[in-house]
Amino acid sequence: MTESVGTENFVDIDQVKVGKELQASQRVNGVWPKLRVQHVSKSFQSKDRNFYVLEDINLEIQQGEFVCIVGPSGCGKTTLLNIVAGLEKADSGDVWADDHKINGAGTDRVVIFQEAALFPWLNVVKNVEFGLKLKGFNGKERRNIAIEYLKMVHLSKFQHAQVHELSGGMKQRVAIARALAMNPEMLLMDEPFSALDAQTRWILHYELQNIWLKTRKTILFVTHNIREAVCLADRIIILSTAPGKIKKEFLVELPRPRDDNDVNVAGYSTRIMKELKAEINKVMKCEMDADSCVECDIKCTTEGPAKTDIGGGI
Ligand SMILES: Nc1ncnc2c1ncn2[C@@H]1O[C@H](COP(=O)(O)OP(=O)(O)OP(=O)(O)O)[C@@H](O)[C@H]1O
Ligand SMILES: [Mg+2]
Repeated sequence: MTESVGTENFVDIDQVKVGKELQASQRVNGVWPKLRVQHVSKSFQSKDRNFYVLEDINLEIQQGEFVCIVGPSGCGKTTLLNIVAGLEKADSGDVWADDHKINGAGTDRVVIFQEAALFPWLNVVKNVEFGLKLKGFNGKERRNIAIEYLKMVHLSKFQHAQVHELSGGMKQRVAIARALAMNPEMLLMDEPFSALDAQTRWILHYELQNIWLKTRKTILFVTHNIREAVCLADRIIILSTAPGKIKKEFLVELPRPRDDNDVNVAGYSTRIMKELKAEINKVMKCEMDADSCVECDIKCTTEGPAKTDIGGGI
């Protein structure tokens, strides 16, 4: 089903068997995968037509796996993440977390967005403590847990700082500490580092890898940036566009922590970029030539084209 980029054993994703017939064998030692997305499709109603964003997405993520989703802008990455988070409802198909069907948001799945979305009226440590009150921890317990996770992101010295005193990278680290403090089963990250400069991103790639090595949280991470995905992921899933379908998967078998500038990371990235080129061209053609809409069935002219971020990513 999956290609290991270090070898040549491509297997066509279309051949992957999914659905009920495989459910019994999907349990490993009696344990369900942490996440199962089964036959998920999603469309949005635009002015005069139904716009299909995701089509028959099937995906499994095992406990402790770090999976990145990459694909051209507008292919439905955020929509898929939102469906997994329970913030958006699929038209058809199901999403399962362990053995229960996801019907809405839950504290077992915490989302980290592109903007850190901290509470500006609370200082750093109180931001991290915030959700713990709802979980029933007393004041002392909340503070201890918050400090533990602030130490993990190397921000304990800034516990009393105000949000406006932090850099963009520090804010994202607080958001990660706040998410981890909730001890979720799964972290869902939607381009959390895309607004940061290259050097800060590099530092956060390193920190996130170390956090993952310590906590072994299951992580689903959306990015445009292939090198970021190679740096972070156990497995990279490539979505095609209009409608979004899983086009291919890659295993990244490199030791951690990985460096963005490592020659092997660059090699993997080049290989995956080649896979994505056809998809990027499809989006570009659609943006530049309204007539191509018939071919790719993407909304182009009525509400503005989908964006395509080629620089630094895809
Ligand atoms: N609530 C909505 N109503 C109508 N259309 C929507 C809605 N949400 C998303 N879309 C459309 O669905 C498509 C997929 O959007 P989505 O945000 O999932 O893409 P994406 O892959 O995350 O893109 P990007 O990489 O730019 O973040 C886009 O064309 C978008 O315009
Ligand atoms: Mg998005």
